[in-house]
Amino acid sequence: MTNRVALVTGGNGGIGTEVCRYLAALGYKVVSTCMDAQKEDIAGWQESLQAEGYSVGWVECDVSSFDACANMAERVEAEFGPVDVLVNLAGITRDAFIHKLSKDDWDAVVNVNLNSAFNVTRQFIEGMRQRGFGRIVNISSVNGQTGQFGQSNYSAAKAGLHGFSMALAKEGARKGITVNTVSPGYIDTSMTAAIADEVKEQILAQVPAGRMGRPDEIARVVAFLVADESEYINGANIPVNGALFTSF
Ligand code: CAA
Repeated sequence: MTNRVALVTGGNGGIGTEVCRYLAALGYKVVSTCMDAQKEDIAGWQESLQAEGYSVGWVECDVSSFDACANMAERVEAEFGPVDVLVNLAGITRDAFIHKLSKDDWDAVVNVNLNSAFNVTRQFIEGMRQRGFGRIVNISSVNGQTGQFGQSNYSAAKAGLHGFSMALAKEGARKGITVNTVSPGYIDTSMTAAIADEVKEQILAQVPAGRMGRPDEIARVVAFLVADESEYINGANIPVNGALFTSF
């Protein structure tokens, strides 16, 4: 068991909730960010996890804003202690072919999915360097590796996340900090539920596993990567996609 503090951005979403459960079960003091506490009923979410025996904190923060992240970091470290584990998971989609994609939808996806990783990581990296320990996991996507119809914004942001991981892995390696990427395939969450049924069927037909992934299949990889013992796994991308995309 550990008692390190783990911050999970967007931890109250489909994959995030499972990551919070896994880390809390391992003893981490888990804190999730949410965008709008009232709209997302984060207190209700916290209560339902509490009823299952998982104690998880939360803080409201728009991760696409650097200043909001600076403020959030102060509040989290004052209330819970230094953050040793960071999971950059908050993400959105605004799918459209590029000839129909608005500048707002480009900006929103790049800000929330990619710029957020800088905005949040920047707040905690100096503390991690000083303490000589840090675990950062960036949640990317198979569609960052392959590109996907209607996702020029999302694919660009998710590919960018792994570039970010690789650079940071080199910067932090001598300071006990690891930075890795997990690239989920199509996981059963509200994000994939929003895809039109006929499109989803087409996509699923290409998944050798013949099914969507489950959030817990991502969470267990995150838990493995953030363990103290995982120090030599650094700058890696771990695909979890049912063999939808295979590569070295
Ligand atoms: N494979 C093959 N052809 C495709 C395709 C695909 N995945 N997606 C679209 N097309 C084709 C369509 O068949 C269609 O062809 P025709 O003109 O010959 O009929 C053409 O492209 C236009 O498609 P639509 O009629 O669907 O156009 P649209 O403008 O209404 O919608 C779209 C376009 C928004 C891209 C829609 O097709 C869509 O939602 N696609 C799914 C995108 C996707 O995979 N999103 C993932 C969301 S979940 C996620 O992102 C999580 C994660 O990390 C994996």
